[in-house]
Amino acid sequence: MNKLKVDFNRPVILGNELEYMKQAIESGHISGDGAFTKKCHAFLEEKFGVRRALLTTSCTHALEMSAILLDIQPGDEVIIPAFTFVSTVNAFVLRGARPVFLDVRPDTLNLDESRLEAALTPRTKAVVPVHYAGVACEMDSIMGIAAAHHLAVVEDNAHGLFGKYQGKYLGTFGCLAAQSFHETKNFTSGEGGALLINDPVLVERAEIIREKGTNRSRFFRGQVDKYTWVDIGSSYLPSDILAAFLFAQFEQHEKIQLHRRQVWELYHAGLRDWAAAHEVQLPCVPEGCEQSYHMFYMLLPNLELRQKLIAYLRERGIYSVFHYLPLHLSDMGRSFGGKTGDCPVTERVSDQLIRLPFHNALTSSEQELVIDLLHGFPF
Ligand SMILES: Cc1ncc(COP(=O)(O)O)c(C=O)c1O
Repeated sequence: MNKLKVDFNRPVILGNELEYMKQAIESGHISGDGAFTKKCHAFLEEKFGVRRALLTTSCTHALEMSAILLDIQPGDEVIIPAFTFVSTVNAFVLRGARPVFLDVRPDTLNLDESRLEAALTPRTKAVVPVHYAGVACEMDSIMGIAAAHHLAVVEDNAHGLFGKYQGKYLGTFGCLAAQSFHETKNFTSGEGGALLINDPVLVERAEIIREKGTNRSRFFRGQVDKYTWVDIGSSYLPSDILAAFLFAQFEQHEKIQLHRRQVWELYHAGLRDWAAAHEVQLPCVPEGCEQSYHMFYMLLPNLELRQKLIAYLRERGIYSVFHYLPLHLSDMGRSFGGKTGDCPVTERVSDQLIRLPFHNALTSSEQELVIDLLHGFPF
């Protein structure tokens, strides 16, 4: 048996991370909105063409800011895929919204746009598509339906920085988009996120909400002579030390994205025939979508085999993980009326999905080991 250990995720220094953190400290400004935060904002705004980008302490917080910005009120309904992370829904429930869980497509595991229209009621205020694994939702349909019914679209783009739909970057479709820089993401500051604001009307209020409900940003721009409490808000801005780390990762974006693409392609090439022979479903990237190379997942034929495979790999030093549990069947989801059978695709894929080791320092020999072991898995 091999003695190698292959981590599921591993944070790595790729360039100037430590040097920039030192510079931030030596500059005397380590609270929020220092020089490195501004560099991160400029990078996101210029690279992706968003009106305004604001770093946040997490994607969760960028989603919470979105719910406040959209004035979500008790009783409003928000459409969320049942197959997503808890923050996608929690951010809106915190404002009193009632989540309406929609099933996902069996191919991309993204919100099933064909079910969207039937889920709308006069109380529906927003829809939150999640670009699972950084593969785009069907944004033409979603944006069309949202426009026809005057719904806000908030993209949960936690996985999708650098992904594209019909040539346009993910995170630039909705009025708002939330990014994650948590340690498992392509670019990280340990914990971190960003709110991308595409609707100019929302920019100034976003700055206020992020700064404890004060107009501090206007004060720093010299637009008011003192700053004060003007709205609800919280403290959603990260330390400039974290922004320094993140900016160093942004500087390496070409290298990171190329490496991750190679990782994804090596898994895909090494597993394609094996998967077909054993009824294992590999990720689907539809025509017109360019993925962000965030993760490599597979759908095993059933829960028993999925669990057996995770244990088999773990006994051999390989760390693989499952992913989301169906939100509508969680304690909270059931309290909103969720029940077994509401979202059959979500219920099935949640049992079947396994994510293979995937990070910025993963080597091809580690991947070959994973692939070889998978080939030897006794189904
Ligand atoms: C789809 C999705 N949205 C939001 C989040 C929350 O991100 P964060 O940990 O940055 O708050 C995650 C976490 O991985 C996620 O998968």
